Amino acid sequence: MAIIIDGKKISKDIKDELRAQVELLKKKNFEVTLCVIQVGDDPASTIYVRNKKKACEYVGIKSLAYELPEETSQEQLIDIIHELNERPDINGILVQLPLPKHIDEDKIIQAISPDKDVDGFHPQSVGRLSIGQKGFVSCTPAGVVQLLKRYNFPIEGKECVIVGRSNIVGKPMAMLMLRENATVTVCHSRTKNLAEITKRADILIVAIGKSKFITREYIKDGAIVIDVGMHRDENNKLSGDVDYDDVLDKVSAITPVPGGVGPMTIAMLMYNCVESAMA
Ligand code: GUN
Repeated sequence: MAIIIDGKKISKDIKDELRAQVELLKKKNFEVTLCVIQVGDDPASTIYVRNKKKACEYVGIKSLAYELPEETSQEQLIDIIHELNERPDINGILVQLPLPKHIDEDKIIQAISPDKDVDGFHPQSVGRLSIGQKGFVSCTPAGVVQLLKRYNFPIEGKECVIVGRSNIVGKPMAMLMLRENATVTVCHSRTKNLAEITKRADILIVAIGKSKFITREYIKDGAIVIDVGMHRDENNKLSGDVDYDDVLDKVSAITPVPGGVGPMTIAMLMYNCVESAMA
């Protein structure tokens, strides 16, 4: 019987730990504050931003919201970020992506002070991660490592195959698993004989953005499968990048969608905010 990895529970455990920490900080008259900026009113972004605010409330983090109109210029947004960088009462700055097309996301990410980059997207945060220095780590891959560790799944020396090479998940995921002493292979859309490689994996992490792409032919018996994907079909049913029902009897553990990796992203964002406040 496969272990169904309960991301909802682990996420709550982490948020409860952080809540206790934030309470202690408050007793020392120290408040943790996250500033969330949304430009325009993309409905998916509005839901994500709302969930981030709710998590802040739960943990006891003060959240400041900037809801800026779609027409906001890149310069205006950068000016706001520069002001927030200077404010000692703000510990974290998050600009919800995607941004409207007239704004260059890279320029915005680079405008955020690396000391407040709780998303872990700034080139300095990414660079620090890749050379093993302390810094903010992108929340979704950090959440995946927490799931593995809190279930006591050994990582050291294991064959870890990551499918997907995005800046936000695949690449930082590879760096983190290397840091945990796994043997890491990164596959992507141009990889030849994908199934041959994924079948080597003791730990298979999938972040390719294609619903139910990974079927049992891609999986070694007893593998641990982490599904970072999230898709909604015409009937509003959610699925991941892995065909869950097809692989279930072949894996030793798997993250469901929803309730696996998803809830971990926000928990790790809260973690980064508290870390930032304590730095
Ligand atoms: N859009 C979708 N996911 C994320 C995230 O983790 N951070 C930010 N800033 N935008 C997102």
